[in-house]
Amino acid sequence: MEIITRQQRMASVAKKLRRDNLVLGFVATMGALHEGHLSLIQKARQMCDQVIVSVFVNPTQFNEETDFEQYPRDLTADAEFLSPYDVDYVFAPEASEIYGDNFTTFVTVDDISDKLEGSSRPGHFRGVATVVTILLNTIRPDFAFFGQKDAQQVAVIRRLVRDLRFDTEIVVMPIVREESGLALSSRNELLSESDRAAAAVIYKSLQAAKEAFENGEKSSGNLTDKVSEVLDSEERARTDYIALVDPNSLEPVEKVGDDPVLLAVAARIGDVRLIDNVILNEKQ
Ligand code: PAF
Repeated sequence: MEIITRQQRMASVAKKLRRDNLVLGFVATMGALHEGHLSLIQKARQMCDQVIVSVFVNPTQFNEETDFEQYPRDLTADAEFLSPYDVDYVFAPEASEIYGDNFTTFVTVDDISDKLEGSSRPGHFRGVATVVTILLNTIRPDFAFFGQKDAQQVAVIRRLVRDLRFDTEIVVMPIVREESGLALSSRNELLSESDRAAAAVIYKSLQAAKEAFENGEKSSGNLTDKVSEVLDSEERARTDYIALVDPNSLEPVEKVGDDPVLLAVAARIGDVRLIDNVILNEKQ
């Protein structure tokens, strides 16, 4: 496993691999790697000849300077985490390698970036779309792997890749959960032990709505009320939003029909804001 820190070296290594007709798989991360990332890496390993993982805490997607500064960074621990999994390259640039002098070009995926997470994190998806564009242009992978936990990020990246004709196929992997149901996230590390136990209520609330849906409930109002009822039963939880939307356009859905719909939640447990989701009517 080679660790590459220079953007030009990453681009030339990837170019050579493509010339050798190798299928390139790419997993973009901000480090603090966990089993959720692992599922992406393992899928990339299965599907591709070469696996490249980026570790880059992207400054342009943080709304608050302190959040950016406090984001966990430990490349040695991340490299150790990756070492058993046959990753070929880790791309771990400094911010100056990605955003050079006089960097003024940003990528905005209109409309869907402003919904859900976008309303409390203005500019977040502009930062994500911009860095993903730079990473895809550097590596030009055949496949790039993302986690369903960040459902809106998936919608934004799919749209970006479609609209700007990137020659990369996006592969989305299911959410990986702790035994309690809590979705794996680097942010879970910020939870106290009791808050971590309380955070299991988020998935419980989604499961309650999913069960109601499977028993015939189709109304958005009733399904989101179900989520809210369960979340409110946990005194440490404060709901930010509960939304039933189309997974691609993120437009609200009033009544679930035959198509898949995304039921998404954001809630604070203590000081930590967590997101989670389930798909209703998921096509197998
Ligand atoms: O999901 C993440 O970790 C980040 O948003 C990503 C896709 C690596 C872009 O910085």
